[in-house]
Amino acid sequence: MSEKKSFYVTTPLYYANDELHIGHAFSTLAADILSRYQRAMGRDVYFLTGSDEHGQKVEQAAKARGLTPLEHTDKLVEKFKSLWELLDISNDDFIRTTEDRHKKVVVHALNQLWEKGDIYEADYSGWYCTPCERFWTEKEVPEKICPDCKRSVQELSEKSYFFKMSAYQQKLIDHINANPGFIRPENRKNEVLGFLRQPLGDLCISRPKARLSWGIDLPFAPDYVTYVWFDALTNYISAIGYPFDMEKFNRLWPASCHIVGKDILTTHAVYWTTMLMALDLQLPQCIFAHGWWVTGEGKMSKSLGNIINPRELVARYGLDPFRFYLFREMVFGMDATYTEDNFVLRYNADLANDYGNLCQRTLPLLIKNREGIFHKKQPALPQSLEIAQMATQIKADYVEAMENFLFHDALKHIWTLVQRLNKYVDETAPWKLAKEQNFEVLDEVFYTIGEGIRFCTHLVEPFMPHLAPEFLKQIGCAEQRVSLSDLAWGQLPDGTSCTEPTPMFPRLETERIQNLKKGGKPAAEDGKKEKAAAPVKSEVNEDGLISFDDFLKTELCIARIETAEKVEKADKLLKLTVNIGSETRTLVAGIADFYKPEEIIGRQVVMVKNLKPAKIRGIVSHGMILAAATEDGGLALVSPDKLAQTGIRVK
Ligand code: MSP
Repeated sequence: MSEKKSFYVTTPLYYANDELHIGHAFSTLAADILSRYQRAMGRDVYFLTGSDEHGQKVEQAAKARGLTPLEHTDKLVEKFKSLWELLDISNDDFIRTTEDRHKKVVVHALNQLWEKGDIYEADYSGWYCTPCERFWTEKEVPEKICPDCKRSVQELSEKSYFFKMSAYQQKLIDHINANPGFIRPENRKNEVLGFLRQPLGDLCISRPKARLSWGIDLPFAPDYVTYVWFDALTNYISAIGYPFDMEKFNRLWPASCHIVGKDILTTHAVYWTTMLMALDLQLPQCIFAHGWWVTGEGKMSKSLGNIINPRELVARYGLDPFRFYLFREMVFGMDATYTEDNFVLRYNADLANDYGNLCQRTLPLLIKNREGIFHKKQPALPQSLEIAQMATQIKADYVEAMENFLFHDALKHIWTLVQRLNKYVDETAPWKLAKEQNFEVLDEVFYTIGEGIRFCTHLVEPFMPHLAPEFLKQIGCAEQRVSLSDLAWGQLPDGTSCTEPTPMFPRLETERIQNLKKGGKPAAEDGKKEKAAAPVKSEVNEDGLISFDDFLKTELCIARIETAEKVEKADKLLKLTVNIGSETRTLVAGIADFYKPEEIIGRQVVMVKNLKPAKIRGIVSHGMILAAATEDGGLALVSPDKLAQTGIRVK
């Protein structure tokens, strides 16, 4: 992505008018993951975030709290910083638009453009929305209602200062067309090009002090302040020394990537880029606009009471699962819906069952049978060879995804390997090899597993900076780390000794979640330093027997069949909706040869509740009902012999 020596990545500057929610945390986490990945690839990274502190909203929020604007933003900035600390954000700098180092650069830029004639004075009239701090044209507000906040707008005409944005329209279109990776993803690029098909107006950059005093004075018009975008966007160059420390500036500029949400793409892709053109500065290499996190009720907003607080989630589930979830669930660039149920499903499936369990089920066997030591063997089993080759390909796919900001794809690739490794454990059954004392093969199998854990852990580290080192410690190679760029299969040294694993991702059972929601002990002790819970016994027994604890992992419950219908073009399948007390599930069951839909509606059956959802004939089936073959070749559904409570656990 970047040919420059340095990789300079930025987040938006967050408005210092309110606390931050998961949407804001997401922009910063994306920049953090990117920074950690780039550092691990050996690049010199500079990661900037900060706060946007001027403007009417901030002024109003301060007034409401009986504080001066700066007292108000000082307090909020502390909260922002403490959130970034909690989320372990690895930024190199935090810029506040109220700092002198920033304000003097804004003044410098304003003077430059004023002298050049790119800022001019004119009358501005339009319909003004006070809460949104913006003018609308007559056409845009036929009902005199702000299209954004739906409050009424007032007609205003005043002397203003304008930036000649229109002068750069064609140059910008040409730049976008000549640089395919400049605005990403592709659909957002097309949106910007669509916007640029209309004649671009000039940008009003001033507010009279009579209406807004909380801003940066225009050096050529003392009764005016510059407002919002001209001030805030300049942070990307003011923080890195422009124009007073050009050595630093030249080392870092142009930015490798501005990460922004889709709502502020135009301001970045059009206002900012034309400002840079006017200042004769290079354009950033990439502007990436990600989508929004919404909840079941739509957009997160205080008035709807549906704000998701990142601190709560970290306290409840631990920092790394939180980071993982956000980036596994959202296709970077698209919107995603947050629900806690979905969080728990992903946690249990991907973290507890797949990644965590890979260590839990194998390392105790290594300790028991080979004194915890990995003996390096050349792969001889076809599956070991396959995994070695697969890992090399997975790394290449992962790098390709990360270089293109496809975080969800990068995680998907890692999990393909994690799941293949779990399957390999099932296929090779190391407990059997140990019983047979087939140590040659057993060592090969353990080496493949240990190497697989090490390999996946290095790849996942930018997403899970706390637990990855713990995983490496468990397999005994915390000291022999390699950089991501050098990571290759087979680097786990011969004779590496593992330690007794502690569960990193304790499974979230329904009762446990209720307890966590009530403020019980979280999965991790605190968000920053995740501590693993007490060790649990190995889940695999050499005789194929499982412990009672393991049995309890399968959640069986009583389900009541509410509806049943045939699945089109699938003779054997019925689509059922079942009531399990707390929710209604859809599932597909292969029972159509034995039961007619009307025969089973209203019946109570036993269902496996915590099975991963699967798509069957295009239907997402979430759960499995139990049945047994009858002596005459039929099928009998398993049901309670008396009426039981719907949804209750079967144990
Ligand atoms: N201050 C401006 C940005 C100036 S950049 C020089 C601003 N601030 S903001 O606090 O309102 O938003 C900051 C970022 O948070 C934006 O990228 C925005 O898209 C992101 N998010 C706010 N809510 C969000 C979600 N619900 N989901 C994902 N990101 C969203 O705009």
